[in-house]
Order: sequence, then structure tokens, then C-alpha cells
Amino acid sequence: MNTSTETPESKFGHIRSFVHRRSHITPGQKTALDRLMPQWAIPYRPAVLDLDKAFGRNAPTILEIGFGMGETTQKIAEARPDDNFLGVEVFNAGVGALLKRIDESGVRNIRIIQHDAVEVARDMIAPDTLAGVHIYFPDPWPKKRHHKRRLIQPPFIALLASRIRPGGYIHCATDWENYAEQMLAVLGGEPLLENTCDGYAPRPDFRPQTKFETRGLRLGHGVWDLIFKRK
Ligand SMILES: C[S@@+](CC[C@H](N)C(=O)[O-])C[C@H]1O[C@@H](n2cnc3c(N)ncnc32)[C@H](O)[C@@H]1O
Repeated sequence: MNTSTETPESKFGHIRSFVHRRSHITPGQKTALDRLMPQWAIPYRPAVLDLDKAFGRNAPTILEIGFGMGETTQKIAEARPDDNFLGVEVFNAGVGALLKRIDESGVRNIRIIQHDAVEVARDMIAPDTLAGVHIYFPDPWPKKRHHKRRLIQPPFIALLASRIRPGGYIHCATDWENYAEQMLAVLGGEPLLENTCDGYAPRPDFRPQTKFETRGLRLGHGVWDLIFKRK
């Protein structure tokens, strides 16, 4: 059941890529939210974030948009300890789940912002700063009338490209062929970006197979990775 509590347009005028749902949250996730937000989460503010201060060091920073339950975020952050990972997610249970993972694993290079990633990228990330952006299995919004809610659209990709430093990358993955085609067209149409491959990319070793991907593969879907670089 869709228990949407807001209209698709945010108060800033853009169409949201998510709807707020009343979703199940486990007691462990709830406790993690209450106890660990002050330590690992950064509140949204319409002001540029000092990344060195946020992570307590100067290191390449990867923005991950829509980390879901955070399995992939944790695995990649552990495998790449010299990089900072700024995870953005709106969903309470997901934020609680990643906070719990941080606490239990001892991984120290992840920070979380619980807010619409469109506004985070626009307001909190300075131009030419990110070493990379990860967008894995964004909501496919399969119905045609909902396509306007898809995250990968020209204005948002132009914004992200402006936040990536020259030589940095954007890596997207999806198990929806029609969305993969849209991603290829939108990323390919952004003048600041160039494809690192001829079309789709092989899954890089650093990206583990996610829960959504496993489910997609089980349903017989393909999986498409795209890796573009900032010129
Ligand atoms: C289909 S899930 C994929 C989760 C995860 N990346 C994975 O591969 O398992 C997409 C996630 O993106 C989040 N999301 C959608 N739009 C968002 C936005 N504008 N800002 C932040 N998170 C968003 C949703 O809440 C959801 O958890």
C-alpha cells in the first residue's frame, strides 16, 4: 500500500525520486538511529560541507546516493580504507541499518546524511570536489507516468558532474534495461562526462553484488554498469 504523505514536488520545486513510506524498522535499527546519529550522521544544512572536518582527514570522497540497507557501502568502505564515503539516504530503516553496521564493524570512513540527495548535492557539496559518485540500483519507477521521478535525469546529472573533480568518476548500476538505456543516454549527453567504456562497463571488482541485484538476477533481469569520467 502506498502511504505517501507528500506530493511529488518538494518545497524547492523538483520532483522527488522517492515517496515517504511508513516502513518497518527493527528495534536494533531504531536504537542505532537514537544512539549513533550524533556520531556518524551529518545534519542537512543549506551550506557547503567541510569534508575534511566531516571525516577528520583529507582524502578522496565518494558520494553514494540511496545506499538502501548499506551492505554495499560497508563492503566498499572496508575494501577502500583510504577513501571517504558519504552516504545519502532518506529511508529511516536504511540509515539505522548502516549506523549499526558502522558500529559493529568498526569501519571509520563512512558518514551519513539523511536527506534528499538532490538537495545535498546542490547545497552541501562544493563544485569540483568529489572523487566519485556511486548510484546503485536507484528506484526504477517502471511505470511510464512515474519516469519523471527517476533520479538519473539530465539536470541532476549536470549538477553531479559539476560536483565531481576533473578525472573523478560516476558509477551507476541498474537491473532495469529501460533505465539502463536512459542512463546511457543521459550520461552520454552530459558534456562534462565521457564514457570509460564503449557502452556499458563490466562490473568493477570493488562493487559487490547487492541484494537488489541478486533479486533481479533471480528474476532473470540483466545488470548494467556504467562508468563515466569527469573531463
Ligand atoms: C532500490 S533502492 C537500492 C538500494 C541500494 N543502493 C542497493 O543497491 O541495494 C534505492 C534507494 O534509494 C533511496 N533514494 C531514492 N531517492 C533518493 C534521494 N533523492 N535521496 C536519497 N536517497 C534516495 C531509496 O530510499 C532507496 O533506499
